[in-house]
Amino acid sequence: MNGYISMDKTLINEGVMFEFDIFVSSSSNSGLKIFKGKNSVITNNDITILSSIEEIFIQEKYKERYKMSLKTITQSISSKEDRKEEFEKHSKEIYSNATLVLENLFDNPETLGNYENSKSVVNDLVGNILDDDFTLKSLMHIAEHDFYTHTHSLNVAIYSMCLGSFLKLDQKALAELGESALLHDLGKSKIDPAIINKDGKLTDKEFRTMMAHSSLGYTIGLKIGIKNKNVLHGIKYHHEKMDGTGYPEGLLGTGIPLFARIIGLCDIFDALTSKRSYKEAMTTFEAVKLIKTHMSGHVDLKLLNSLLLMFR
Ligand SMILES: [Fe+2]
Repeated sequence: MNGYISMDKTLINEGVMFEFDIFVSSSSNSGLKIFKGKNSVITNNDITILSSIEEIFIQEKYKERYKMSLKTITQSISSKEDRKEEFEKHSKEIYSNATLVLENLFDNPETLGNYENSKSVVNDLVGNILDDDFTLKSLMHIAEHDFYTHTHSLNVAIYSMCLGSFLKLDQKALAELGESALLHDLGKSKIDPAIINKDGKLTDKEFRTMMAHSSLGYTIGLKIGIKNKNVLHGIKYHHEKMDGTGYPEGLLGTGIPLFARIIGLCDIFDALTSKRSYKEAMTTFEAVKLIKTHMSGHVDLKLLNSLLLMFR
C-alpha cells in the first residue's frame, strides 16, 4: 500500500498512546481506514478487536516517530524484566539469611542475640512484602518449593505476613505477626528430637509431650523478653481449633486470637504444600480443597478463602 508501512502489533497494549494514526484494511477504495486516531489511549476493547485483524499500518511519513515509540516501549519492557530478576535474587538472599538465623535460634533459643537477629529477619521480610509485589510473589514462590523441615517456620512466617498484608494489617501489626509466626514452634526446641522426628505414629504419651510445645514456646517467649500479647498469643494458641477441639485451652471460634488463627492455618497449609521425604507436595488448590473437606471445623474459613484469593 503506497505511503503506508506495517506496524508491529505487539506494541499495542492497554493504556499506551501513539503520536500517529493507526490504520487497518478496509473494503473501501483506498483499502485502509483509521482504526485509532493519534494521541488516543488504547483500550482493552481495541485489543480485542485487533486480535482478529491480521495487519495494522501507519503512514510512512511518521516512520521516525514510530521508530521512537518502538525504542521506548522495548526499553521499558527490558527494564521491567531486569527489575524482576533483581527482586528474585534479593528474595533468595533474604530467604537463605533467614534460614541461617532460624537454625541458630532453634539451637539456642534463650541466647538474646539470636532472638534479636530473628527480629531483623522479620523487618527485612516486612519491608520487602510492603515494598513490592515482585518480592511478595518471589518469596511465596520460594516458600512453595522449599523442601526442608527447618524452614517450615520461615514459610509459615512468609505466608502469614502475606495473608496479613492481604487483610490490610498495618506495618506494625505485620511485623508482630511475622515475629509470632517465625517463633510459633519455638517450644519444639525443648522437646526430644526423637519424638519430633519420629517417622511412625506417636504413642499417647509422646503425643502429650508434643502437645506441650505451644505452651512451652509461650514460656520461652516470656523468658527472652517478648512483651507483646499478640505475639505471645500467636505462639501459645496456634494449635487451637475453631470447633474447640484444639489445645492447650480448647478455645472456640473467634475466641482464638487472630494471629493464632492465621498462623494455625498457614502452618497446616505449608505442611500440605511442602514436599517431605515421605510425601509429595500438594498444589495450592489441592491443599485448600483438602482443608475445606476434612478440616473445616479446625480453621477459620474466612481466612482460608482469603488465602485462596491471595494465590490468584
Ligand atoms: Fe506447632
